[in-house]
Amino acid sequence: MNRPYLETLPERPSVRETVDVILEARDLHKSFEGPAEEIQVIRGIDLKVPRGKIIAIVGRSGTGKSTLLHLLGGLQRPSEGSVLFEGVDFYSLSEEKRAHLRNEKLGFVFQFYHLLPELSALENVVLPAMILRRHAFSSVKKEAAALLEELDLGDREDHHPNELSGGEQQRVAIARALMNRPDIVLCDEPTGNLDSKTGEGILRLMVMLNETLKTTFLIVTHAEGVAKIASKVFAIQDGRLEEKQ
Ligand SMILES: Nc1ncnc2c1ncn2[C@@H]1O[C@H](COP(=O)(O)OP(=O)(O)O)[C@@H](O)[C@H]1O
Ligand SMILES: [Mg+2]
Repeated sequence: MNRPYLETLPERPSVRETVDVILEARDLHKSFEGPAEEIQVIRGIDLKVPRGKIIAIVGRSGTGKSTLLHLLGGLQRPSEGSVLFEGVDFYSLSEEKRAHLRNEKLGFVFQFYHLLPELSALENVVLPAMILRRHAFSSVKKEAAALLEELDLGDREDHHPNELSGGEQQRVAIARALMNRPDIVLCDEPTGNLDSKTGEGILRLMVMLNETLKTTFLIVTHAEGVAKIASKVFAIQDGRLEEKQ
């Protein structure tokens, strides 16, 4: 199989060994205003994500997986508790600093992709790198094209999201999350819209990136099968985590 993206990866990744917990949650709580009363979705979660590992959180629909991932990814402020990214309290940073840190070090694959509809697949993937590196489109285009090729989307570069299937949009979203070679990727149901063969391919890519670049992955999913690539698996239920393996 053609592996254009993997060929661009450095052989010896530079890994900072000093901070071995890349992301940490301390007594996280999140409630939402309901029609009658508050809905407590996250009810006291502590979690340490070790650098260089693949961690999975498994739970049924509605158990708060997406909410937890948004809290951990610096996208939604917890009601109580804190999120530490490499030891830095994420929500004590200004909005601007947090956004910069996110773009530089953290990739996020949204459950519903959040691709920009007016941009092509290639432009969606290139955008985070243009913002971070302040590079022109032409200089980052090749890398983005290689990523799309890796995800079997080489012939979809110029398609807009509304011209792509759910599974294809999901893979574009994955390519976008990987574009800045993040230290950690948070994935919300990354195989949710893929047939089993394509889903397996995505899982293999994650394992490969984990092995070659030491990229950390935190995956939330209702699909138990995804847990097989994880070194540690948690179950989420009633707003709390329980270690499974
Ligand atoms: N912005 C919000 N306002 C109110 N309720 C919300 C909001 N976001 C999520 N919820 C509620 O939180 C619960 C968990 O949602 P979610 O995190 O999406 O679960 P999962 O990803 O596990 O399916 C659901 O009951 C959902 O309705
Ligand atoms: Mg969800």
